[in-house]
Order: sequence, then structure tokens, then C-alpha cells
Amino acid sequence: MNEDVPARWAAARDTVLLDGFHALKHALRFGAEVPVAVAADRGAALRLAAELAPDVVGRLDALLVEVGEDGLARLVRRPHPTGVAALARPVEREPAPGAPVVVLDSPRHLGNIGAVVRLAAGLGAGGVITTGTVDPWHPNVLRAAAGLHYATAVVRRDVAALPADRPLYGLDPAGADIRTVDLPADAVYAFGSERAGLSAAVRGRADALVSLPMRAGVSSYNLATSVAMVLFHVRPPAAG
Ligand SMILES: C[S@@+](CC[C@H](N)C(=O)[O-])C[C@H]1O[C@@H](n2cnc3c(N)ncnc32)[C@H](O)[C@@H]1O
Repeated sequence: MNEDVPARWAAARDTVLLDGFHALKHALRFGAEVPVAVAADRGAALRLAAELAPDVVGRLDALLVEVGEDGLARLVRRPHPTGVAALARPVEREPAPGAPVVVLDSPRHLGNIGAVVRLAAGLGAGGVITTGTVDPWHPNVLRAAAGLHYATAVVRRDVAALPADRPLYGLDPAGADIRTVDLPADAVYAFGSERAGLSAAVRGRADALVSLPMRAGVSSYNLATSVAMVLFHVRPPAAG
């Protein structure tokens, strides 16, 4: 391995891990600052980029340092199948106005949070705010989001600091059927945790509770699929 890489990796403070080619590709595409990026096999990574993401080949060519399989395993505990990893600076920004903001109220499952960030990025939501203790920039969240944190706003806030300038709709199976409610794009949509649902604090902030239709006998949908249905229903401006 290039002698310099472990030292640069260790010295890159205030960074998050981008685990795998796709996370690095999206991070570069959406403007992340990436102080160090490595590949087990640089040639293979650049060929993958040429095939899947020609727009970032130049930046990858300038950034990627070959470290070999063993070198990558020394830097990252469980290397991604694409043999690529990088460190990037997280971005703290406020959700964009004019598009729906997703609140995840004390989510637990890192894969769900990542899937929601990916949905928010793809459908042009204003951002994702999490409450509770889980870090939405955790490496497993970034991996599940394929690095799309850089394409939307992703922040953790206390319930008391949720946006107060837009209506807040709480998603709950006991709410009014979503098909009967006129939902604005410029609003906050709050979803409960996988186990406990919406907290009393977020319910207390909600202007209305809204439900997704379910066949009798089904208790609830998965958190990320609920967000997908709501965002598709609301249609953020960027989603057409
Ligand atoms: C897995 S569910 C939580 C289930 C939890 N046991 C409960 O009692 O609410 C996670 C979140 O997805 C949303 N959700 C799931 N199914 C829903 C439905 N049919 N209508 C509205 N929201 C739903 C809610 O925000 C819910 O808090």
C-alpha cells in the first residue's frame, strides 16, 4: 500500500465513511469534499466508473489510490464488494423550502434511514430530519442511501427544533385516509419509529394525522415504504 494512505486516512478528521463505489460516485456527483479515496484495484474501479458513471471518471482518476485487498481491509472493517472506500466531509444544511420535509421520529433501523434519504434525494424532497439518538450520517446509513446524503439535506434535530413555519402531518394508521386529505408539497411529514410509532411529542406538534390505506388485518407498513408512498402521493416539484 502507498505509505502515505493510512496516515492520510487517520488524519482526515470530521469525515464520514463512504463505503463502496456507489456511495463515492453520488457523493462526488453532488459536490462532496473527499479528502481521501482508496480502491483495492484502481483499474477495476475506474473501469466500473467508465461503465456506470462517466461523469465522475476524471475526479476518481485524480483521487483514487490503489491499496490492494489487504490494504483496504486494514482501513475498512468489512470492505464493500466494489473494493472502494473514501472519507468525505458531512454537510449540515437546512431543508430546502417549497418541497416536502420528511421527519423520522426516533428511527432505529439504519437501513430504513438510508432508504428514506435515497427516496428524498430521488423524489426531490426538501430534506430528511431525524429525531432521537441515531446518527443519520452513520456509515451504514450512508451505505444504504448510496451516498445520496449530498443530494438532499440530512440533519438530526430535537422535536422542539422541527420547522415551525409549515404545517406538520403525522403519518399514523389511525389518521384520516390520505386519499381524502389535500396535502401541500410545502409541508412537514412525520413518520414514527419502527417499534413505537409516532412519539407523543410529535403527535402534539401535528396539525393532522394521516393514514395510508391497508387491508384489514395488516397492522402497518415498513417505515421506508410508508415514506415512499407519501412522497409519491405529494409529488415534490422536482419529481415532476
Ligand atoms: C412500522 S410503522 C410503526 C408501527 C408501530 N408499531 C405503530 O404502532 O405505529 C413505522 C411508521 O410508518 C408509518 N406507517 C406505517 N404504516 C402506516 C399506515 N398504514 N398509515 C400511516 N402511516 C403508516 C407510521 O408513521 C409509523 O409510525
